[in-house]
Amino acid sequence: MDNSTGKSNTPSPLEDAAPETTEGWVVNSTGPLKGDVSVRGSKNAVTKHLVAAMLGDSPSTISNIPDIGDVSITARMLEALGCEVNIDEGRAIVDPRPISSSRVPIRFSGMNRIPILMVGPLLHRVGEAFVPLVGGDDIGSRPIDFHVQALTQMGAQIELTEEGLEAKAGRLRGAHIELPYPSVGATETVLLTAVLAEGRTVLDGAATEPEVIELALFLQRMGARIEMRPNRRYIIDGVESLSGAAHHLKGDRIEAFSYLVSGLITGGEVRVLGCSQDRLVTAISTLHGMGARFEITDSSVSAKAAELKPIAVETDTHPGFMTDWQSPMVALFTQCKGISVMYETVYENRFTYVPALKSMGAEIEMYNTPLGSIESRFVGSSTPCSVLVRGGSPLTGCDVDVPDIRGGFAYVIAAAAAEGTTTITGTHHLDRGYNKPIENFTNLGLDITRVQVPVPK
Ligand code: EPU
Repeated sequence: MDNSTGKSNTPSPLEDAAPETTEGWVVNSTGPLKGDVSVRGSKNAVTKHLVAAMLGDSPSTISNIPDIGDVSITARMLEALGCEVNIDEGRAIVDPRPISSSRVPIRFSGMNRIPILMVGPLLHRVGEAFVPLVGGDDIGSRPIDFHVQALTQMGAQIELTEEGLEAKAGRLRGAHIELPYPSVGATETVLLTAVLAEGRTVLDGAATEPEVIELALFLQRMGARIEMRPNRRYIIDGVESLSGAAHHLKGDRIEAFSYLVSGLITGGEVRVLGCSQDRLVTAISTLHGMGARFEITDSSVSAKAAELKPIAVETDTHPGFMTDWQSPMVALFTQCKGISVMYETVYENRFTYVPALKSMGAEIEMYNTPLGSIESRFVGSSTPCSVLVRGGSPLTGCDVDVPDIRGGFAYVIAAAAAEGTTTITGTHHLDRGYNKPIENFTNLGLDITRVQVPVPK
């Protein structure tokens, strides 16, 4: 049953009945992928801007929003709190004035990482908050201890229950917060809370990812007083109120990289529009190191290669090689002659997609010792943190089930480089984070369709 143009009609995690069939994507290689892909605003910024809108005393408008599941999940959570959310033609208007509830309903449990970011804004707006346990991809334990510690330092009383997090506060106050690791989400929690807290917050050890800076700039646009200092320090002076603001989101650097790699892995050439070079600097320099050639303009980046050389890469916080680029890069390693190495340092368990690539014919060995220079944060962990890839072996299509969003993209591009047919299930992970992936791949020349298939055992 082909449904190649429409969005998923797979039962979403919101529905209870156990389905007999699920949506899958069927991919047949068609040779080199060539053409243009326009990326929209980034998944990891759009949802945070929707949350920031909760802090205003008038509506905010966010444009260039991607058509992804995470936006609709976040919009439904905001609506459940009483916000009015209108999404149309890539633009979201959020009116936070009618917020009446402090509780994100339990049905949103496990859907994405956004509820924890709503705690600060809810405490400011209604003095208490309940958020269900955070979800997101299954890529290792993803604790919320930094968020809890920061909120507590700012005066919140927090109780963790089996269902989620309960919080209460009078007026929150500024504090000196030092993050043990530059967590993106914990930095965002501090920014979203400190902007309306009483007095000054000094945040040290903070994340400086472009999506975090984008959020800080949006908050500044809303009237927040935020300074950025060297050495991962933000200084935030709380204000009495914030107004709504408008922002056109910057392009998604994870998508941009992933599509550039889809061209390279198939021996083609993809030109990405809508994501500026500055967001891709480490991606470009790393691919350069492998022998890729780039054409870069103010509005586009394209990559091609006659032949690629192997390389050793370790993931890191910004401006390092980002963890979300890791899985498509490992897929590329499988088709690049010689031995390449990937060392994952941000997440404890981000190689869950590797066994499926091996079943397609990739030669990959996994190690739980660091094959790189960054000190491991996961000493003693039994999960692999490094992979060694013997590139150049041919891939053959087979049935694979997506473990997480970025691993899922790695499967699609591996399938594009493989002989035969690959059926990919668990594609709701991809729909949660990629804007119109079927349309984009089809435009690049890939034979890819949505189908209904039996649920994998
Ligand atoms: N960490 C803790 N305690 C905390 C928070 C984080 O130990 O309270 C640890 C995590 O377990 C992880 C590390 O700190 O080992 C980094 O986590 P971070 O908080 O930076 O990640 P996040 O905010 O949960 C966001 C993106 C991820 C992206 C990371 C790193 C969103 C919704 N998610 O996650 O995106 O990988 O930052 O850049 O913004 C993806 O898009 O595929 C994705 C996973």
